[in-house]
Amino acid sequence: MNNDIKVLFTEEQIRNRVKELGEEISRVYEGKKPHLVCILRGAVIFLSDLIRNISLPLTVDFMAISSYGSSDKSSGIVKIVKDLDETIEDRDVLIVEDIIDTGLTLKHLHQIFLARNPRDLKICVLLDKEDRRITNVDIDFVGFKVPSEFIVGYGLDFNGFYRNLPFLGILSANELSGGE
Ligand code: IMP
Ligand code: MG
Repeated sequence: MNNDIKVLFTEEQIRNRVKELGEEISRVYEGKKPHLVCILRGAVIFLSDLIRNISLPLTVDFMAISSYGSSDKSSGIVKIVKDLDETIEDRDVLIVEDIIDTGLTLKHLHQIFLARNPRDLKICVLLDKEDRRITNVDIDFVGFKVPSEFIVGYGLDFNGFYRNLPFLGILSANELSGGE
């Protein structure tokens, strides 16, 4: 099943880049206590590695969302499946997401968060498929720019599977269409 996956970034490349991102975030938030919000479920592995590379006092919370529409086409209408446990009012909030594709999901999330009056709101994504963007969203921290392919591993799934791959890979068209 994993033969149809081409490695895009190895474990070591991910580890090095996540360390750099953590250091960058530590510099940007110096003197502050960022509140990191992980978007479930894809960003959970990224978050757990990222926070161990941030040298500041920080807190975390989790939100689970589902996007209306078919699985391969983002509608941008986000339904909150599990809301945050804590208020974000007057906090320095950093949204941590696995991947930005069309941008519709993060655009909508950004509006939902802004309406709750954080002191500051920034976005961190592990992966950016910039060629696919159809709406403008300001992303503050990006792990890797990636091609317009379907990516799995390191938390990212296809139909719920592949999240446990320790690397990031491109799923072949064959596998995407349900082939063996
Ligand atoms: P957007 O609204 O088009 O930016 O879609 C973002 C969401 O689509 C992400 O949070 C992922 O859940 C999902 N997604 C987009 N591209 C991929 C991919 O290559 N692999 C896995 N999930 C993806
Ligand atoms: Mg997602």
